[in-house]
Amino acid sequence: MASVLIVDDERSMRDFLKILLEKEGHQVTTADSGTRALETLSKLAVDVIVSDIRMPGMTGIELLETVKEHTPELPVIMITAFASPDDAVLAMKNGAFDYISKPFNVDEIKSVIESATNKNLSTQKNQELSTTFPEIIGKSREMLKIFDMIRRVAPTPANVLIYGESGTGKELVAQAIHEHSKVASQNFVPITCSAIPEDLMESELFGHVKGAFTGAINDKSGLFNEADNGTAFLDEIGELTPIIQTKLLRVLQEREIKPVGGTRTKSINVRIIAATNKILEDEIRAGRFREDLFYRLAVVPLRVPSLRERKDDVPLLVDHFLKKYSRRLGKQIQEMSSYAMQVLMNYNFPGNVRELENIIERGVALENSNIILPESLSFAGGMKQSQSETPLHPANSLMQAAESEEELYDLGIERVIANLEKRLISHTLTKTNNSKMKAAEMLQISFRSLRYKVKKYGLS
Ligand SMILES: Nc1ncnc2c1ncn2[C@@H]1O[C@H](COP(=O)(O)OP(=O)(O)OP(=O)(O)O)[C@@H](O)[C@H]1O
Ligand SMILES: [Mg+2]
Repeated sequence: MASVLIVDDERSMRDFLKILLEKEGHQVTTADSGTRALETLSKLAVDVIVSDIRMPGMTGIELLETVKEHTPELPVIMITAFASPDDAVLAMKNGAFDYISKPFNVDEIKSVIESATNKNLSTQKNQELSTTFPEIIGKSREMLKIFDMIRRVAPTPANVLIYGESGTGKELVAQAIHEHSKVASQNFVPITCSAIPEDLMESELFGHVKGAFTGAINDKSGLFNEADNGTAFLDEIGELTPIIQTKLLRVLQEREIKPVGGTRTKSINVRIIAATNKILEDEIRAGRFREDLFYRLAVVPLRVPSLRERKDDVPLLVDHFLKKYSRRLGKQIQEMSSYAMQVLMNYNFPGNVRELENIIERGVALENSNIILPESLSFAGGMKQSQSETPLHPANSLMQAAESEEELYDLGIERVIANLEKRLISHTLTKTNNSKMKAAEMLQISFRSLRYKVKKYGLS
């Protein structure tokens, strides 16, 4: 049983949700505006908020922002109209736990509330979630959230946009969504948008008829045809040229395709999963990506976290890759020396899981004993490079904070640490092109405390 606060200016909506959730055994309080909701929150302990977005006065998004500022852990579920996917995007971007769209699907509401109130998913549920997706390794909170999203979005026909840094596992997530979808027995057809020259792209996507252009010696069916009734995976979608973007948008709107040089259109029914390591909102702002196409593709946006954000998965991944490559290379290596593990835990993995996988593969290949020693770990660009990538590398960091060991003791621990902190922040700011937001994220501190430290050390 959970205490749920429902915020909606429409009385019928409040009543409907109240009755539904009380039947489920929850304790329900209602508010008819954002302001009233905040009043209630100051007096009452609540486990989850369900709020409409469009309300007179304070909007649902403003309420969400305020709640996230004061109680970031409190899950907020937003109600969006079916016809406005951009509301859903906005809600998720502002930290909503999830959204439900009108007209309501009762089962959906129940399951969303259920997962919001089970914030700290029981270990049994964790186990269940991580065994549902055996190919995707991870038990961190961030990954469990991804598993939960996959489980919920997979059976729907909604287009999904997967974004995240290179090497985070976006393609694995796309495959998992298809495999848990209702069209799992149909084709999953991947295409890498950046790998195909522009003049061939249209024919790759929609096919062509014999004789459509020089070299078109036969009919070609194209991605959408092959993925008909199944899933098309458009990888590196951020690389699509403007012309192809426009054509793709039309296909998504009209649900029919016409092969290059052909005269007849054909209806198609394809679920699109797109992936990108770019921030498409930035591409839109720069005029490189169509906003209307973005909203068609990102009905459900899914962000795959970087490995830096889920370091607690590193040992699990190491174990997985050690087994994989020991088997493949016919070696008997079962473990890492604890110092080698420590080096990995302190590394920041700009190349994410793919980089970790490469490190382990090389380590297994190079190691002659049956345990991986730090010497067998080589980082992209060599060990030197890795140390500058790893300001917290255990052996190096102290020396970076002072010129010599003598000076180190002269300064005393407080100043050595401050020195180190200053260098680390400055290093990170350089890496992020002075984006304090990104730097704070990488250093895992709040924006506010980063801003404070930047000022304190005169770094701006
Ligand atoms: N959670 C994970 N568990 C196991 N293997 C993983 C995981 N995440 C990524 N990998 C492995 O790392 C490699 C990179 O993953 P993938 O190709 O899915 O990344 P990506 O996000 O699509 O990267 P890019 O943006 O560069 O295309 C693959 O070999 C994949 O199997
Ligand atoms: Mg990929």
